[in-house]
Amino acid sequence: MTEITGIRLNSNVKLQMGTFHVAVWGCQMNVYDADRIRDLMTASGYVELKEPNGADVIILVTCAVRAKAEDKVFNQIGSWRHKGIISDDTVIAFGGCVGSELAHQIIEIDPDIAIVFGPRTAHRLPAMVAQFRATREPVVDVTAEALEKFDSLPEQGQRGPSAFVTIMEGCSNNCTYCIVPHTRGGEDSRPVQDVIDEVITHVANGVKEIHLLGQNVNSYRGMGPDGSIVRLSTLLYEIAAIDGVERLRFTTSNPMEFTDDIIQAIADLPVIADSIHIPVQSGSDRILQLMRRDYTADSYRELVAKLRKARPNIFISTDIIVGFPGETDEDFAQTMKLVDDVKFDASFSFIYSVRPGTPAADLEDNVPLEHKRQNLYALQAKLEDYATMYSQSLMGTRQRVLVEGISRKSDQELKARTSNNRIVVFEGSRDLVGQMVDVDIIKVMSHTMKGQLINSALNLSN
Ligand code: 5AD
Ligand code: SF4
Repeated sequence: MTEITGIRLNSNVKLQMGTFHVAVWGCQMNVYDADRIRDLMTASGYVELKEPNGADVIILVTCAVRAKAEDKVFNQIGSWRHKGIISDDTVIAFGGCVGSELAHQIIEIDPDIAIVFGPRTAHRLPAMVAQFRATREPVVDVTAEALEKFDSLPEQGQRGPSAFVTIMEGCSNNCTYCIVPHTRGGEDSRPVQDVIDEVITHVANGVKEIHLLGQNVNSYRGMGPDGSIVRLSTLLYEIAAIDGVERLRFTTSNPMEFTDDIIQAIADLPVIADSIHIPVQSGSDRILQLMRRDYTADSYRELVAKLRKARPNIFISTDIIVGFPGETDEDFAQTMKLVDDVKFDASFSFIYSVRPGTPAADLEDNVPLEHKRQNLYALQAKLEDYATMYSQSLMGTRQRVLVEGISRKSDQELKARTSNNRIVVFEGSRDLVGQMVDVDIIKVMSHTMKGQLINSALNLSN
């Protein structure tokens, strides 16, 4: 017997096209792309394997945002090869952002890679595999119109209770440190009806939570059914009105274009979750300018104040880059001050990583790495303290949670997510997976919380 996702196969079942395995690194956009690749390969006659062992085709969806993320993929391939998981017959398809960044260079780095694809050409994968099998020549194909892939992919498969829906591709902001505009190209928004159709398909499959994705969702400008241009706020009202959408999230929101209409939508629509991710990157106006981020630390503070007025319970998380070229102790102190002023919830922080071809790569960087590391640790300790403070503020409260599955630690316990993005585990029947239920928070641990289910009969009838 061969273990495959969702089904068990007898070894005598004839696999038409062979098996595939998808490995994914990086952001939620990559997770979405990987899911769509799974649908596509399955629809094309391939069978998915949960593990890479024995897969005929291994598909890598990679992240280029920091050098470390890039290295991980090559290390993973090396390790698979060392363990004999990849054989000479395995077709390796190297895709995602590193695929588009390095393109032909990938074959030079590793001549055994058969296919290189990018975030925009994932839909051509079955054709690329067929071409490689026919010619045994490497296939490199990383360029396409931004939205072509969405028109060429099969309908979405089952996703569980929460589903990502990409609403736009690429980014046109050109922040000086960032490689994304190069790897994913300029911004292009999907038409409103395409987004809505995808949401309706998910809801029909039992999805309760929709998570809209884009590098820069606040600048969504999708074509409406009457040819007009629709902004994110209007899209939020439209999706909130779809029967069955019980929770709505959107990521990533940039401070640059967080306009009042979006804040009003958050105030008006209770279905929008109580947590939002707004990368600030730095608390120093001088560094923000060098990063070409079009806001100041104070305008960010004002944005947060407006959001908290619209939604007092909202948890705000962020991304911060430490050690941008030329960052002084004074610049870093301003970042620490901003963190104290805003009191972010669980956030991501990174040491600046030089990305080839980006404008910041030409800036002189005289800050020693060890100093950057010390600053990063100090920042992370502060961010962790605030995240713990928010978790503790939930002790004793009643929370509506979406049950995502069975807890990894005990199969008697369920794992669920609060509106403000905390994981809660609690005892309950498996029938509740995929449902929204109410729990009382009875214990707060470092990264999760323990809950107690409120009258499950009452909950199930909701
Ligand atoms: N170095 C370090 N962090 C980076 N990010 C993007 N580019 C870089 C880089 N060159 C971070 C930003 C962004 C997050 C997704 O990754 O904080 O918000
Ligand atoms: Fe990169 Fe800036 Fe676009 Fe975010 S907004 S993807 S950081 S260029």
